[in-house]
Amino acid sequence: MTDMPIREQLEQDTAGTAGEALIDVLFDFISQRGQSNYDESVTQIQHALQCAQLAQTRGFGDEAVTSALLHDIGHLLVDEHDAHQNFLDQDMNHEDVGANLLDKWFPEKITDPIRLHVAAKRYLCSTDPAYYEQLSEASKRSFKLQGGSLTPQEQEDFERNPHLPLAVELRRLDDLGKRPNQMVPAINDFKATVSACLRPEFA
Ligand SMILES: [Fe+2]
Repeated sequence: MTDMPIREQLEQDTAGTAGEALIDVLFDFISQRGQSNYDESVTQIQHALQCAQLAQTRGFGDEAVTSALLHDIGHLLVDEHDAHQNFLDQDMNHEDVGANLLDKWFPEKITDPIRLHVAAKRYLCSTDPAYYEQLSEASKRSFKLQGGSLTPQEQEDFERNPHLPLAVELRRLDDLGKRPNQMVPAINDFKATVSACLRPEFA
């Protein structure tokens, strides 16, 4: 056992790796750290796999599937989960933590929607009252913590971002990927998809 911070340990484990060897380290990390609960109904890895599966069944390409699978890796890096009393009472900016880690290996079209998936919820809540109403109780709580409704200026800024459409799609998948007892593929079934999305220097 080591008390090395989680992110440093992962950076050490991935140092010098590329291609499927790199994906193996990332998937092992998600498999081990993701056993904690995401919310009242699913574990973190179940949530990731449900989101990736939904992206696939809805006909999204490899990039969106990869974003969906990895979008909450920031929660694992900062050790945020349901067993911690403060999981939903504090905002540790998991979307930035995750995207910042992944930026090294994956292009912006994958990491920007991850970076924006919390803002996308705020955007949808601000522009579509029906969207807010259908959120889970946990998600309504975290919306408040994440800053609540966007100002008109913030909405405008968001609309200028070229990755808005995928970020919004990712957000919708995120909300759906919380079904208890849903059958999901094994994480390794996504290995080829995620590998195909690596930056050329890590492929
Ligand atoms: Fe999520």
